[in-house]
Formats: sequence, C-alpha cells, structure tokens
Amino acid sequence: MSAATARPVPGRLSAPAPGWATEADVVVIGSGIAGLTAALRLRGQVDTILVVTKDVLAAGSTQWAQGGIAAALGPGDTPHEHLVDTLVAGAGACDLDAVQVLVTEGPEAVRELIALGTVFDQGADGELSLTREGGHHRDRIAHAGGDATGAEIQRALIAAIEAAPEIEVVPHALAVDLLLDGPVGTGGVAGVTLHVMGEGQRDGVGAVRCRAVVLASGGLGQVFSQTTNPAVSTGDGMAIALRAGATLRDLEFVQFHPTVMYLGPDSHGQQPLISEAVRGEGAFLVDFEGQRFMHGVHELADLAPRDVVAKAITRRMNETGHPHMWLDARHLGREFWERRFPTILATARSHGVDPVTDLIPVSPACHYASGGVRTDLWGRCDVPGLYATGEVACSGVHGANRLASNSLLEGLVFSRRIAEVLPGELRPWAEPVVDQRVEGLVSGSARERLQQVMTSRAGVLRSATGLSEAVTVLAELAATPAETVDLSSWETTNLLTLSTALAEAALQREETRGSHWREDFPDRDDARWAGHVEESLRGGAATVVFEAEAATDTAELVASLTATEAARGAARGATR
Ligand code: SIN
Repeated sequence: MSAATARPVPGRLSAPAPGWATEADVVVIGSGIAGLTAALRLRGQVDTILVVTKDVLAAGSTQWAQGGIAAALGPGDTPHEHLVDTLVAGAGACDLDAVQVLVTEGPEAVRELIALGTVFDQGADGELSLTREGGHHRDRIAHAGGDATGAEIQRALIAAIEAAPEIEVVPHALAVDLLLDGPVGTGGVAGVTLHVMGEGQRDGVGAVRCRAVVLASGGLGQVFSQTTNPAVSTGDGMAIALRAGATLRDLEFVQFHPTVMYLGPDSHGQQPLISEAVRGEGAFLVDFEGQRFMHGVHELADLAPRDVVAKAITRRMNETGHPHMWLDARHLGREFWERRFPTILATARSHGVDPVTDLIPVSPACHYASGGVRTDLWGRCDVPGLYATGEVACSGVHGANRLASNSLLEGLVFSRRIAEVLPGELRPWAEPVVDQRVEGLVSGSARERLQQVMTSRAGVLRSATGLSEAVTVLAELAATPAETVDLSSWETTNLLTLSTALAEAALQREETRGSHWREDFPDRDDARWAGHVEESLRGGAATVVFEAEAATDTAELVASLTATEAARGAARGATR
C-alpha cells in the first residue's frame, strides 16, 4: 500500500424521510444486460425481485451498444485466444482468473441469450456472422441488426421480463442510498432508499427493505462533457456502493472511444458513436492531408487496441491543431453501409454527413469505465448482501483497457454467476439501523463546470499539473451546497464524488498504462505501478490508496498460458 489521500465526502445523500415503504428479497438496480440477466436468472430461486431503473427499461447503455458481443464462437476460435487478446489489451492490470471465467463461460452465455430470443445476424450458411474489432486477432464479435446489437439484446431481455410477472419493475426511480443493518464497515444490506419520479402510490422518496441488492446501474460517462453514454450514466451505483463501505478500484482507467462523431466544439452530452466495427470492415483514419497515420503505430494499424488508436488520434490532433481527425469509409459503398451499419448511417446523415460520400469527422470521447465497484469472481462486494455486475463493477476482466465488445459479455457472464450464489447466501431480514452517516448534497448547477474540468484536465491526456487543478476545482464545487433536493443535485453529488476519486487515482498513478495516459510519465512502470488504485471510506473520509501486486509480464504470461494450452490440446488428442 502506498501514500493515501483522504477527503470528506457526503456519507449519504440529503433526502426527505421515506414517505412509502415496501419490501423484496432482492432489489436489482439497473435494467441493461447485467441487471435484466440477473433478475431473470434469480427468478424461481428467490421469492420476490424488484428491478429499479432510473428511466424506462431501455434507457441505459446496453441499448446503445453497436459493435456487438465477443465470444469464442467461430470456427477455429478458442477461449484461450480470446483470453490472450483480453490480457494484451488490459496492459498488465487484468485479473487472470476473472478473464478465464469471462472467456470460458462466454460462449455458453451467448448461446443462452440466443435461446432467450435474441436474433444475431447470420451468414448465408445460417451460422452466426462474426466480425472483428480493435485488439481481436479473430472474427469473434456477434452482432445484430448490423450495428444495433445492444438494441436487439435489450429488446429480447425486456420481452422476457415482461413475460415474468413475478419480477416487479419500478421505472423512473433513482436509487438514493443503501440502508445498512450496522455502521459502515461492518453493516450489511438491509434495504435501499429510492426516489420515484411520478405520481401514484410510490411518488417521492421511499424505503425498500430487502435481503440483497444487485448493482447493475452502468457507468459514469456523464463525468465528461462528451461521452457515448446516455444521460442516465451518472455513476450512481458506484457512489452508493462507496458510501455504504464498498471499495472502488481502477477508476483512472476510463476508456475513450477513438471514433466518436465530432459535432463541433460546443456539443456536449451523449455523442454519436462510430463503431469500431466500421474499421473492422475496412474503414481507416486519415488526417487533414489525407494521410493514414495508424500504419507504423501498431501492427494492427487502424484495428489496434482502443487506447492506442485514441492516443494516435489525439497526438495527431495536437500536432496539427485540428479538433478532430477523419474516418474514411466511403469505399464500403452504399449497399454495404445500408445493410451493415444502418443505424450509424442514419445518425451520421442526420448530422449532415453522408459516410457513403463524405469523410466522417471523429475524435475520442469518454466511452467506458473499466474500473468500478471491486468484486470477487461471483460479483460479491465488500458489503455483505451487495453484489455488482456490468459496467458499475470492477471484476478485473478489463484491466487498464477493455477489449472491444467484452462489456456486454461481462454483464452477461457475471450476472449469471451472481444468480448462482446469491440465493444460497440470502441474508435474514434485518432492521436498518438509524443512519449516522453525515449527509450532504451539491448543487446541480455545479455539473457543467465539473464536466469541463474533468474533460480538459482528467480526460484522454493527463498530467500532475492538470489533475491537481481538477482536484482543486472539484473541492470548490463540493462546497456549493444544493438549495433544493432534487434529481439534478443527487446526480451531481454522485458525479462529484466519482470525479474526485477518479482525478485522485489518476494523480496517484504516475505512469502511462492502457487508457490512462500521463504526459509527464509517458511509460508503463511495472516496478512502481503494478497493482490497483483503490478508494474506500475510512473513518468518514474517502481514502485513495495504491495496493501493489506482483508485476505481470503479459508477453511471458501469454507464452506460458499458450504452452499450457498446447500441452492440454496434445493430451486431449492422445486420449482420443
Ligand atoms: C463499438 O462498437 O465500437 C463499441 C464496442 C465496445 O465498446 O465494446
């Protein structure tokens, strides 16, 4: 463990006393692939399940996933090859056991999704049509509707939920805080407070008593001014978990997607993604002189891992003073565009760019939180009765840089695992203790400044000077109390809690690794920084510490795993 920084954070969000109450064995917070898979798999194993979602069921990130879901499903592909690509992308920060789980259980989990009714694209031979994205050495990405994979998965999952009357859904409900059966540090889950936006019996803040909570509330993209994430991605689950005593890990590893459509300097919020699959099908990056600049940067050129491409684009933008680069996909042709990427085509055209005839302006934007609430291999967090899955979680599969299309798979695989263990671990009903945590709330008006400083100082390119400035500005914003208790203030307080943790983690990690790029420490430094930056609440203050681990030489590890795999293959051959 190395140097710790500590700062006060609200122990709980200020909120009116609950005006209504209910109970359920398990509350699932979030309704993307992770949350709905957990709820569906728990069905029949626990008596009552409540799914809580901040908007409607389809409003989260899953709906927006374009590229697809990665799994070793194609001829000749193996979980081992998927494992190797995942470890290489993760830049020495993956948890090997977690990646093994992901790649070995992935194919079956995807087949189960198909059995549930998800329709993936097929070739003329009736087999799954698989494509390639950055960092993959094989075609292993299953997709649907061309570039509408997430929407199809979400559709199938919602249909299954709607056919399961034993799962109750509470839409338009923000999870405010967990209720614990003891003080933070020892207390386990006894319930959760919700704020339901709407009219009816459950209007306003209420309390749900429960025996377990599954956090599946997605990421924190709204920390930054430009993101591919929808408006609901305000990091609520991570902030709730931190306040309840869970540990956040690897927050500094935020992935910036290289090819997000550039809509101008003032555009903010959710921006249109141009899927990596477009490069997988042959598109390439050019600068304002029409020069391809990915050759010579990486052996996979335009299909290098995402961090490599995002850095190369940012470098070229900085060198030339242009606010974006270009993606050239004109040679794919109209018919191919219409069939393979209908959603992206329509979106680009709606912004006045026709990819069939025009170059597409692109620049990196926040896309995915590789870190999150630390879990074990079964989705368990440090707080008894609390589980986390999907983007809100840090299961260890992504390391410093998530491999393309591994995110839907992670939500799927680890939610199945949670549903395997949770019923046997269900805690007895417990009374929530009186909450002694110090409450707080920051004004919703702080959000824009927060996003600006995080984008300019803690975004793609970071330095000690910039990150220290970010921490200072965030501390000033933390002193802007909310005048009204409302959704905007709750979300902004969560964003501020996470922004500060993220900036402090990025400041601590004095090296460049994966998606964490420090201009003042441009190299990976395994001697000092093999391990994880973690944040937790200790004695009422949020404390950021570095937990060192033995350094992993990825090339050596891959060589040894490959040799073991080859020996296993030979032994299998000999016994046949
Ligand atoms: C993309 O389609 O480029 C995004 C896929 C992913 O984030 O895994």
